[in-house]
Amino acid sequence: MSIIKLHDKYFKTYISEEKIKAATLSLVQQVSEDCKDETPIFIGILNGSFMFVADFVREYNYNCEVSFVKLASYQGTNSTGKIKQLVGINEDLEGRTVVILEDIIDTGNTLQEIYDIFSDKKLKRLKIATLFFKPDVFKKELPIDYIGISIPDKFIVGYGLDYDGLGRNLASIYQITPKPTIKNILLFGPPGVGKGTQADLLKAKYNLTHVSTGDVFRSHIKKGTELGILAKSYIDKGNLVPDDVTIKMLKSVVNNLPESNGIIFDGFPRTKAQAIALDKFLEEKGEIVGGMLTIEVPTNLLISRLLERGKTSGRSDDQDENKILNRFNEYFTKTEILKDYYQTQNKYFGVDGVGEISEITKRLSEVFNKI
Ligand code: IMP
Ligand code: MG
Repeated sequence: MSIIKLHDKYFKTYISEEKIKAATLSLVQQVSEDCKDETPIFIGILNGSFMFVADFVREYNYNCEVSFVKLASYQGTNSTGKIKQLVGINEDLEGRTVVILEDIIDTGNTLQEIYDIFSDKKLKRLKIATLFFKPDVFKKELPIDYIGISIPDKFIVGYGLDYDGLGRNLASIYQITPKPTIKNILLFGPPGVGKGTQADLLKAKYNLTHVSTGDVFRSHIKKGTELGILAKSYIDKGNLVPDDVTIKMLKSVVNNLPESNGIIFDGFPRTKAQAIALDKFLEEKGEIVGGMLTIEVPTNLLISRLLERGKTSGRSDDQDENKILNRFNEYFTKTEILKDYYQTQNKYFGVDGVGEISEITKRLSEVFNKI
């Protein structure tokens, strides 16, 4: 399922191109049956019907003429009830069969206007065909001869239909949906576990943003921001940057992220105070931490992996088993506290990190999909 944003609203996929096509073909068949012995005039109601009319007449295999009327009644997602006729009819319609091609009939106000417009045109027949119909809101006692798909009273866009001008070009139909809460995950794993690789894969797979505290620090310090200068003053003295400075930096980054489906926090939180601050910050934004995902690999396996890597990478901290053990020790001591913090909220997920890269991505995805 894909979610799109038009202006301030979100829409999710609802009716596929195939279903629209099938409904159109069925309408063409019914209209053909009724009109094939004469030359009907198909009149599309602009703007919404342009795509439907194009596809409809392309499938109509008998003689026909095509014209348009432009009416408007909608503003935003609500029918205003007032119909304006913006482009009228020039053709002489006396004695002709007119088939109105509508994209959607909602309250029926537009349909009422159509009946009014054509009532004095001395037509042979007036037929109404609509691709979509909302029976729950239709208030009129007017005949609709051909109906493609009936839908509940939900605002839709695509296939000619718009939300304040946007969305007409979408090939399928989308339905309005509440603003999605993005999925924020905290990715953890001891050194050498493949966290970076998995973060990149998840990022691409789900369109996530990767926020690494290390990168955040470096960029603030490099840009010489107020927070960067402050952080540097601690780092230069060999002290830890206080949580409130770290959190301020993180907030400034998160508040300015490009749109994505979620955030992978990497290297954050490091302390329980940071975890609490993150919860509070996200809550203010109407968001939550989805879960703490930890890639787990037995330590002895990791040590041999790192030593192997050290042979080719030249990283000194990958070559000394004692240094490696120290790093693990530090990692486990710190994350244990966070593990407890998230476990009590049922948000801790340990994922087996032994196996093929794709297998591990699959395991992480399973967790990601259910949170
Ligand atoms: P009615 O006059 O209330 O029947 O509304 C008919 C017109 O309103 C249609 O021709 C559309 O232009 C617009 N409309 C009704 N429902 C929707 C919708 O769900 N999405 C977009 N436009 C709609
Ligand atoms: Mg319309």
